[in-house]
Amino acid sequence: MGAKGFSCGLLGRNVKVVVVLACLWGLMSLSCAGRLSPSKQKLEVRKHLKRLNKAPAKSIESPDGDVIDCVPITNQPAFDHPYLKDHKIQTRPSFNPERLLGENKMTVESKQGANPITQLWHMNGKCGEGTIPIRRTKKEDVLRASSVKRYGKKKHRSIPKPRSADPDFINESGHQHAIAYVEGDKYFGAKATINVWEPKIQQPNEFSLSQVWVLGGSFGEDLNSIEAGWQVSPDLYGDNNTRLFTYWTSDAYQATGCYNLLCSGFIQVSNEIAMGASISPVSGFRNSQYDISILIWKDPKEGHWWMQFGNDYVLGYWPSFLFSYLADSASMIEWGGEVVNSEPDGKHTSTQMGSGHFPEEGFGKSSYFRNIQFVDSSNNLKAPKNLGTFTEQSNCYDIQTGSNGDWGRYFYYGGPGRNPNCS
Ligand SMILES: *[C@@H]1O[C@H](CO)[C@@H](O)[C@H](O)[C@H]1NC(C)=O
Ligand SMILES: *[C@@H]1O[C@H](CO)[C@@H](O)[C@H](O)[C@H]1NC(C)=O
Repeated sequence: MGAKGFSCGLLGRNVKVVVVLACLWGLMSLSCAGRLSPSKQKLEVRKHLKRLNKAPAKSIESPDGDVIDCVPITNQPAFDHPYLKDHKIQTRPSFNPERLLGENKMTVESKQGANPITQLWHMNGKCGEGTIPIRRTKKEDVLRASSVKRYGKKKHRSIPKPRSADPDFINESGHQHAIAYVEGDKYFGAKATINVWEPKIQQPNEFSLSQVWVLGGSFGEDLNSIEAGWQVSPDLYGDNNTRLFTYWTSDAYQATGCYNLLCSGFIQVSNEIAMGASISPVSGFRNSQYDISILIWKDPKEGHWWMQFGNDYVLGYWPSFLFSYLADSASMIEWGGEVVNSEPDGKHTSTQMGSGHFPEEGFGKSSYFRNIQFVDSSNNLKAPKNLGTFTEQSNCYDIQTGSNGDWGRYFYYGGPGRNPNCS
């Protein structure tokens, strides 16, 4: 919108009326985007799919019904961004805070729960060098969204805001959290190892996720956020599978940003991991536990924010210019779970967070984040001394922190939602 108004102002006086009308038309067609005629909508969807789905070098059918397109790395969605037209891809970061751990790396892996984890589509093939795997967006995916423009975007105001001055804000959106956080310093990254579950979602318009938030700025309209973890979201993916995801925004979930590669921004370099693809296997109650590690850090040389999955997969980076505050540093890091609760008036559905069990049940039953760390201003990974916690209603979803030699700083979190103590 801003850009449109600007170009109007630049034009000569005699064409102004026409241009103003054109701008009005632009405004109207935008605000009416949710109410297009069926044929217009079909066209919109087709155009959007064409933008998102780049011509693949080859395609792989995943057992879960996904199609993974191996797209040449230079044709990925990021390069639709006007600022990235001449961007030279960084194939690797200049620095990785984990390298400082060196030979200690093995001790970071826990004796408990460190089973290998992969993505389901790996069963049916690989993407070659020079390509990246992208989950193909289907027509049905876009049609489930409230509008073509909102597809792949989070609802506004979904950010967990600990110690909010405005308690109404918290309950208003239906988003429920159980999180741990650090604030009050400059942060240059975050890490955690998270065990993976497949929480039950009661209503298709709800979701359940477990993630790391790297936040910059105030909680106003200009909040910058980089997020990564796992999620179950029937609306976004059309099923109940647990999927690896990322998110970014530089304006509090309004105009900029999206999940995964559903808009231009993130530059992927890995040919092995597909964002939005199912993770397999997942942890079982009183059974094998599977966990994933997520590391996000700011490259001190180029300033880009990199992401690593597990110990081996460097996925790619968010270029620094996408952000305002995060172009410098993060002011807060959060780790934990979030669900959307579709019931009005603070009532709850039975949508689960994490394993769907409360933290006190412990290992093998409850969900956890372990080896929680942040990257400090000297680019060292550090375990937080002061870890705050936040939850809207602990009798629905709760969190308990702890620390020991094996897991460092950790917490158990989650819950069943609706239960005798949570209506
Ligand atoms: C949210 O609403 C519930 C139920 O009305 C209430 O018990 C709880 O205290 C509220 N939480 C906050 C942080 O205001
Ligand atoms: C997802 O799970 C819910 C119940 O938890 C079920 O009603 C729904 O049919 C499932 N959706 C799909 C696409 O399998």
